[in-house]
Amino acid sequence: MRSVPTLVLLSSLGLTFSATAQTARADGATIALHGNARGAPACVTCHGAQGEGMPANGFPRLAGLNAGYLQTQLDAFANGQRANAMMTPIAQTLSVDERAELARYYGGLGGSTAAVSVPNPDSAGARLALKGRWSHGLPACVQCHGATGAGVGTVFPALAGQSALYIENQLRNWQQNTRPPGPMGLMKTIASKLSAADIQSVAAYFAALPAGGPVPESTP
Ligand code: HEC
Ligand code: HEC
Repeated sequence: MRSVPTLVLLSSLGLTFSATAQTARADGATIALHGNARGAPACVTCHGAQGEGMPANGFPRLAGLNAGYLQTQLDAFANGQRANAMMTPIAQTLSVDERAELARYYGGLGGSTAAVSVPNPDSAGARLALKGRWSHGLPACVQCHGATGAGVGTVFPALAGQSALYIENQLRNWQQNTRPPGPMGLMKTIASKLSAADIQSVAAYFAALPAGGPVPESTP
């Protein structure tokens, strides 16, 4: 009998708490640095103090990626379409407003970098990135991702300066159906035509390019 009032008290506290959390104004910078009250950890722990990512761990750069693109990805993690052991539970502790604010925050960060190393223009990865392989129906990556890999609009994310390990992981995710096919299934089709060696060399090419920071909204 004594547990009943406790339960009522706890659930009414819980209700009050979530009502407050939902009406509180979401602030991207605060959540990025400190997390939120519902268990989301600080994003900086994995994505770096300036959203530059942690290349060696495959934690992607977020700084300067298009806000609309980032929001679509956070929504896809939250609704289970895009599965990742680390990001899915984190996105699920963010409200719709918080996801929008975080996307805007990271999309607005400059975070440009100098080239990490000079990409070899004669490598197999450079050829794939800049020319494609039309004998296999593979367009050049830069046709969609922008001439310098800086991304185009909301749909085509920046690849320049992105973690090589992260790029490799995403291409493998499409090959293994663990990332949703995305707009028009473009990347799933492209990834299915890449060998393991292609993936490694094209990822190394883009990782070595300087990241550009925020991209103006435009269509290709
Ligand atoms: C424990 C480490 C960790 C923390 C903390 C973390 N992330 Fe991530 N995040 C990852 C990993 C790993 C990936 C790559 C997932 C994959 O390979 O699909 C990722 C991917 C992402 C992506 C997709 C980027 C892209 O280019 O598609 C977004 C957006 C993102 N995280 C936002 C956030 C935000 C916002 C926070 C804070 C609320 C956060 N992350 C906290 C590890 C983390
Ligand atoms: C016909 C257009 C097109 C071409 C060509 C193309 N991509 Fe993409 N790429 C896309 C789209 C669209 C997305 C966003 C997918 C999504 O929203 O899930 C994307 C996303 C990606 C991502 C995920 C980035 C992130 O932040 O998570 C990687 C990695 C990638 N592409 C690599 C490549 C590589 C490497 C090539 C060349 C071999 C290439 N792409 C060629 C359209 C294209």
